This record gives sequence, structure tokens and C-alpha cells, in this order.
Amino acid sequence: MAKLDILVYPDRRLRQVARPVTVFDAALKQLVDDMAETMYAAPGIGLAAVQVNVPKRVVVMDLSAERNALRVFVNPELSDAAGYAETQEGCLSVPGIFETVQRAATVTIHAQDVAGKAFTVAADEMLAVCIQHEIDHLNGKVFVDYLSRMKQERIAKKLRKEQAALSAA
Ligand code: NI
Repeated sequence: MAKLDILVYPDRRLRQVARPVTVFDAALKQLVDDMAETMYAAPGIGLAAVQVNVPKRVVVMDLSAERNALRVFVNPELSDAAGYAETQEGCLSVPGIFETVQRAATVTIHAQDVAGKAFTVAADEMLAVCIQHEIDHLNGKVFVDYLSRMKQERIAKKLRKEQAALSAA
């Protein structure tokens, strides 16, 4: 296992549109293991492969308080989006920033596991919000994109400054 580097907004590589996974092999299993390690170490509740500069449609997530219920979504797709939920969201690629975003309250998730087996989950609450956030990443989108232009610029400036300070240290 290896901890991976997480891209930080406004890094352009967060705009990559991820390709579907077609080969379910040991390399995919390794990617999932490394992403899980990276997410737990951060710590975070969800991570999309684009955030570690791997443009593949892979998401890991753990919404449990005990941090022992890893969920893996390969090639996730949504259907039956309904209702509205407003949630204060954060993101490992946008450290220290939390803003309210409106999303569908319930969705049906269609995905494959790491072995390629298809499954479907009816999602609400945190799972519904989180999977929408992560699928956005796979499409090159970050939650900051939902905010006003002024807020986007302020966040980009703040994070650029922090990154510059980090790399100078
Ligand atoms: Ni995120």
C-alpha cells in the first residue's frame, strides 16, 4: 500500500474527465487499496481517483464513525435523483473550506465492485450527497464550482497562497 498525493484546488488536473474502468485486475485492486489508505490518512470520508491524478472512474468512501466500512464504487452512475438536500460540504482537494451545496436528496447508484460485479444501492442522506460529490470529481468538477464567482476566486487565492507557503517551507 502507498499513500498518494492529493491534488489541491485550483489544480487544473482536477478538471480531467475520468475514463471508465474496463479491466478489473491486480492494478485496480492496488489503486483502490492506495486510495483507501490515502483517504483514511487524510482523514476524509470520500476520495475519487481524479483527486490523486488517476483519471479512472473509481471512488472510495467510508461514512462510518468507526472508519471500518469501506465502500468502493467503480464506474458509478446515478438514476432516480429526487428531492433537494442542502449540506455543508468539504473536500480533501479544497482543504479547510466548507460551504453549503444543494444536491438531490435521494439517488439510485449503479456501480461495479473491484472485481467487476455490478450492484445497485438506493442512497439517501450522507451517502446520496457524497456519491454526487465524488461523481462530480470523475467529471472534472469540484464543489467550489457551485459557489459564486467571488467565493471561487477567494478560495483559489487562499489555497494558492497556502500551497506556495508549503512548497517554500
Ligand atoms: Ni471532493
